[in-house]
Amino acid sequence: MKNKAVAILGLAAFVFIGIAASKPLGTKERNLKVLPKDISDTDLDSVMEGYSKALNVKCDFCHSENKAKTDIDFASDDKPEKEITRIMMKLTAGINKDYFDYTILYKAGETMAVSCYTCHDGFPRPELKHEKKD
Ligand code: HEC
Ligand code: HEC
Repeated sequence: MKNKAVAILGLAAFVFIGIAASKPLGTKERNLKVLPKDISDTDLDSVMEGYSKALNVKCDFCHSENKAKTDIDFASDDKPEKEITRIMMKLTAGINKDYFDYTILYKAGETMAVSCYTCHDGFPRPELKHEKKD
């Protein structure tokens, strides 16, 4: 009896870990305030890769660690850089919509007049690219 209970507990833990591990890109219940809630995993991945490249940073520039400090908690809003990014996304979409007539869908590989790269050009803060030249 005792063994059975242990086995069930073990199985429950296994399933739980499985869910937790697949959470960043697997679940549909995401903490998205700007991107479309039904964005595909592939598109979300490409958008995030794009931001990382445009600013020349790693994922953890915007995403904080989980409480156990063992992994990144992508859904967490702990880092201010993530919230700034949401403003930047709206800013970029706004410029394209109001001045260039592009409808922004936040899809991967979408052509836009202005992108993160236009201003950031591989730096977390655009002004840093001028400091580097001195
Ligand atoms: C420049 C900031 C920035 C960088 C760099 C970045 N992200 Fe994000 N990420 C965000 C923002 C902002 C959101 C939330 C978007 C929204 O609210 O619509 C987000 C959301 C996510 C989500 C959805 C989380 C959830 O709620 O379930 C995942 C997964 C994710 N990012 C993965 C990554 C990965 C992997 C990388 C590195 C390759 C990365 N991000 C790099 C800003 C960033
Ligand atoms: C029109 C130009 C412009 C565009 C487009 C733009 N940004 Fe920015 N961004 C800036 C400027 C300027 C700052 C610095 C503001 C400051 O120093 O207070 C900044 C700051 C940031 C910061 C804060 C960095 C830090 O270290 O504090 C993040 C994160 C960021 N941008 C992400 C993005 C992302 C992601 C995109 C594309 C969705 C984007 N930005 C598009 C001009 C832009």
